[in-house]
Amino acid sequence: MIKTNKIVIIGLGFVGSATAFTLMHSSLISEMVLIDINKEKAQGEAMDLNHGMSFVKSMDIKAGDYSDCENADIIIISAGPSIGPNETRLDLANKNSIIIKKIVDEIQKYTKSSIILVATNPVDILTYIVSKECGYNPKKVIGSGTVLDSSRFRYLLSKHCNIDTRNVHGYILGEHGDSEVAAWSLTNIAGTRIHEYCPMCNLTCTKDEREKIFHEVKNSAYEVLEKKGATSYGIALSIRRIVEAILRDENSVLTVSSLLDSQYGINDIALSVPTLIGRNGVHKVLDLPLEEEELTQLHKSANKLKETVNSIK
Ligand code: LAC
Repeated sequence: MIKTNKIVIIGLGFVGSATAFTLMHSSLISEMVLIDINKEKAQGEAMDLNHGMSFVKSMDIKAGDYSDCENADIIIISAGPSIGPNETRLDLANKNSIIIKKIVDEIQKYTKSSIILVATNPVDILTYIVSKECGYNPKKVIGSGTVLDSSRFRYLLSKHCNIDTRNVHGYILGEHGDSEVAAWSLTNIAGTRIHEYCPMCNLTCTKDEREKIFHEVKNSAYEVLEKKGATSYGIALSIRRIVEAILRDENSVLTVSSLLDSQYGINDIALSVPTLIGRNGVHKVLDLPLEEEELTQLHKSANKLKETVNSIK
């Protein structure tokens, strides 16, 4: 019997609709169900996507309801408001934690075995809430985390170094947000640590230039928001990459957000570190050696997230 890959997307705003469109092109999915509080919106998105079906591998796309979560392989949550002007992602914690608890309560009426992929911000806080407060299996709760930030980091670094992005490897760790951390010690180009690579390149980068690149990564979303009103394609492609690693059981290393259990000396909070992702969700959180300053910053990020969890009413 052919294994069907069933995806449910809850929340068809900028992120959810871009994700649906991106997954439609992935050849990974056999069934996609779209759920939105505005049923007409979900129906309209499904119709619009189905009108392009002759151009892609056939699959079933429909608007549905929570009962369609039964037998879903992955349930993507992209519902709730995104950041507005002068807002940080953590400012959304109160309102979006209420929304996600209601969503997960509905989901759990139909499944407790699907993988829940959280994209709504603040993604780390919401990943924590689904893992701890909703009582869902933490190994099956994955936040998109800093997968997008790590991609921004690799892209900006590749442009600076004039190297194909696919040959630049680097990770952004911690909060998907203002307290995130650039793991320069884990960054390499052509398999060569950045600290050894730079002297071979004639650009002679200074610490300030590296800081400038990281600053651009950290503030990318605010800049895109200011220009186009939302971010959508980068996060949709990040989600697609996570979905691919799960459905193809790839054991890929991705900086997704998940509940840590003493890795890096951090407990009882969800944040992003290099993690093996496959069919069962979080296969292994990699506890990699970081430089002392990087570890200090990662702990600061964890503490910032814990403060936010504690501040939720
Ligand atoms: C961004 C949103 C998804 O960073 O937080 O684009």
